[in-house]
Amino acid sequence: MATTPTPQATVSQNPFADELRTGRSAKPCVLVIFGATGDLTKRKLVPSLMGLAKDGLLPPAFAVVGFARRPWTDDGFRKELADGVKQFGRPDTMAHFDALADAFTFHQSDFGETAGYVALKQKLDQIDRQRGTAGNRIFYLATPPSSYSAILQNLAATGLSTEKDGKFARVIVEKPFGRDIGTAVALNDQVRAAFHERQVFRIDHYLGKETVQNILALRFANGIFEPLWNEKFVDHVQITVAESIGVGSRGGYFEESGIIRDMIQNHLMQVLTLVAMEPPAAITADAVRDEKVKVLKAIRTFKPEEVDEATVRAQYTRGSFGGEDCKGYRDEEGVPKESVTETYAAVRLQINNWRWAQTPFFLRSGKRLSRRVTEVAIHFKHPPHLLFEGGKAQQPNVLLLRIQPDEGVALRFGAKVPGPDVRIRDVRMDFRYGTAFGGETADAYERLLLDSMLGDGTLFARADEVEEAWRIVDSIVAGWKQSKRRPDEYVVGTWGPERADALLGPGRTWRKP
Ligand code: BG6
Repeated sequence: MATTPTPQATVSQNPFADELRTGRSAKPCVLVIFGATGDLTKRKLVPSLMGLAKDGLLPPAFAVVGFARRPWTDDGFRKELADGVKQFGRPDTMAHFDALADAFTFHQSDFGETAGYVALKQKLDQIDRQRGTAGNRIFYLATPPSSYSAILQNLAATGLSTEKDGKFARVIVEKPFGRDIGTAVALNDQVRAAFHERQVFRIDHYLGKETVQNILALRFANGIFEPLWNEKFVDHVQITVAESIGVGSRGGYFEESGIIRDMIQNHLMQVLTLVAMEPPAAITADAVRDEKVKVLKAIRTFKPEEVDEATVRAQYTRGSFGGEDCKGYRDEEGVPKESVTETYAAVRLQINNWRWAQTPFFLRSGKRLSRRVTEVAIHFKHPPHLLFEGGKAQQPNVLLLRIQPDEGVALRFGAKVPGPDVRIRDVRMDFRYGTAFGGETADAYERLLLDSMLGDGTLFARADEVEEAWRIVDSIVAGWKQSKRRPDEYVVGTWGPERADALLGPGRTWRKP
């Protein structure tokens, strides 16, 4: 199977580099949303656009075209969007929607019908004339992945994907990006047949979260952490993305993906690369992504017989949460009673490079766990010689990066308890985003939509990153398929199956935030 060529071969000079260097104001453009009648547009995309409007970050001339199969009118479309902004938008964004409402129009067409794209092109030209959007276009694929191919082919066939005369044409691709390496490579090929890599923005909304970006700031804007950030000082790293919600109405989708495809292949792997990467030569899209992809390349593919020992997978079973009786996964709508799809997974990964050779990285994610929390915990080694009595019982230092909620960074260390005895107890140094900076935090989609308008791909996954992550995940899935072991079980509202602690090895336990 041909995988994506090295970045050097795929990246050409970005003609919008000046814009990136000189400021963060986006040029006029039209955003075309394919699948605009879906939930994402209403819950995330348009409320985020209004967040940008509130912060004065939308381009001076801007329009949105919703492209979908349903026979909606412009007014019907606007009404749905207004509803979305009201429900899901940041405070005081409704007035911005009202002021911009006529910039939103609806275009009805089948995704596979070329005539619909010819008509779209005419419509976009007309919008350019009326609203001054200057021929710049961003196409957002918010449809089920089964429609991507038809959309990409038609964008190429009608010339909509071509950049000329300094006008940009970009495509944003939503997850899931394939369901294994074969489908991801095929999709990358289809994307590349229509767009150049520099025009492509593969969304992983975790990269738009402020606190995920702060991982790079913490590591590379400070002198004190990086000298310790390696196998000499770090015993192990725990990356947790826990959710308290279940699969809800998405049982059918989830049954096909499981937590490994839904969360670990993308969000957790992306966080892992930021924690483990080498310092890039510059904070530019390719310098950062070159380093991230090296981390993934250093993680070995599992042999099927190694997988049971290096992973734990489990399903939630009925229990009560917050006083509410919750179904077990196999009783959820759209889930077969004999399902073996995991709603929880914990994985031990070894990064085979000089920095991390002896430091395992443990990733875990699950639905219906005790709390919604995303964090990275860097567990340091014990000091080489323990001077104080009871020192062995002392917990080692932990640097905790709290991604959500309660965003911040905390350092756990031992301090002397006041009094005549020398007794050591754990204390915490705590930095909280809310206290230090105040203000509202923008939704991850705001940052990512803005970056796509600016042509800055730093916070988007590159083709080779996605494929490398699938290579690792595919080998886990293959091991599970071959394994005779059924998924373990955990009761709703707990921290997952018991066996997960054993995965960490002697003397280590999972944090229970
Ligand atoms: C999505 C997954 O990508 O991320 C969902 O498909 C999950 O299953 C969601 O609930 C979690 O995102 P967040 O931002 O709420 O942590």
